[in-house]
Amino acid sequence: MALVKVENLKTYFSKNDDIFHSLLGKGPQIVKAVDNVSFSIEKEDTFALVGESGCGKTTVARSLLRLVELTAGQIYFDGKNINDLHGRELKEFRSRAQMILQDPRSSLNPRMIAEEIVSEPLYIHGRVKDEMEMLEEVWHLLEVVGLSKQHAEMFPHELSGGQARRVGIARALTLQPEFIVCDEPTAGLDVSIMAAVLNLMRELQEKYKLTFLWISHNLHVVKHISNKVGVMYLGKIVEHGGVDDLFSHPLHPYTEALFSSIPQVNKKGKYQQRVVLEGEVPSPINPPRGCSFNPRCRYVLQKCREEEPELCQIDKGHFVACHNYKEVKGD
Ligand SMILES: Nc1ncnc2c1ncn2[C@@H]1O[C@H](COP(=O)(O)OP(=O)(O)OP(=O)(O)O)[C@@H](O)[C@H]1O
Ligand SMILES: [Mg+2]
Repeated sequence: MALVKVENLKTYFSKNDDIFHSLLGKGPQIVKAVDNVSFSIEKEDTFALVGESGCGKTTVARSLLRLVELTAGQIYFDGKNINDLHGRELKEFRSRAQMILQDPRSSLNPRMIAEEIVSEPLYIHGRVKDEMEMLEEVWHLLEVVGLSKQHAEMFPHELSGGQARRVGIARALTLQPEFIVCDEPTAGLDVSIMAAVLNLMRELQEKYKLTFLWISHNLHVVKHISNKVGVMYLGKIVEHGGVDDLFSHPLHPYTEALFSSIPQVNKKGKYQQRVVLEGEVPSPINPPRGCSFNPRCRYVLQKCREEEPELCQIDKGHFVACHNYKEVKGD
């Protein structure tokens, strides 16, 4: 059963700070950060979101946790619409769904020691036990993430990048969540530390039966950790499916280009050619007409400039939004 279900999610921001725009007497500009996104995450699965910077990954995550107001669409958590949650139910949702942030050094309070950082959610949620019992719980959590009692007394600036990340993970586990959004949890780490953090996350997932939404620019990490992948471009999911299907048969020209950046050897034993993406991601304020990828697409058709493609199922569980996917497939 799906733990998280997203239906036609739109999250728009209004932008008032463009002086030239306001001099022309125009109203606020609308940033379509997430524009009609649908997907679901089964219990204990890891759904990865990938795509270039600014395509809306973090905004999807923040919308799922009700940290930002939705413009349209529905999000269900364990069968309940999160917009209908109030009071005790909302508080319960807040403990069941957690987030690990990209940069733990800036997201962890610099004036708190690790012990306080990890125990704070217990205070916020009124689950405070006596001091000794709480300390024991914090020490246990630190041990679970591979740290020791000594780290409990340290401030974030005294911890290494990997240790700080582990404190962030321990904090996310404090309220025994079922769902964790991991926003670039391994970014900026050395390869060996990254591998250790990834292994830890897999162990925790198994031990506590966790469901992850995993956001990453690192496609090696995505291949290693996730079982489903959604590819985002300019606020939309252009392709999604099982990780093996996506990596072995990317259908959307954008996915094809994105994944070709991973060195791969083809059947003839030669490195496959990398597809270079020309141009920049267009602005989400003024997205192109038709398919938003059309100005950068090497397979563009006239139809792509006029009509937005719908997300269609091509193989079982493999969806793509492209007028041209058949041509790409047969290329
Ligand atoms: N609070 C906000 N107000 C206005 N615009 C915003 C806000 N948050 C995000 N945006 C805009 O929404 C778009 C998507 O941003 P988002 O942070 O979701 O991208 P991302 O895919 O997470 O990028 P990155 O990979 O760089 O983290 C961007 O154009 C961004 O400028
Ligand atoms: Mg982001």
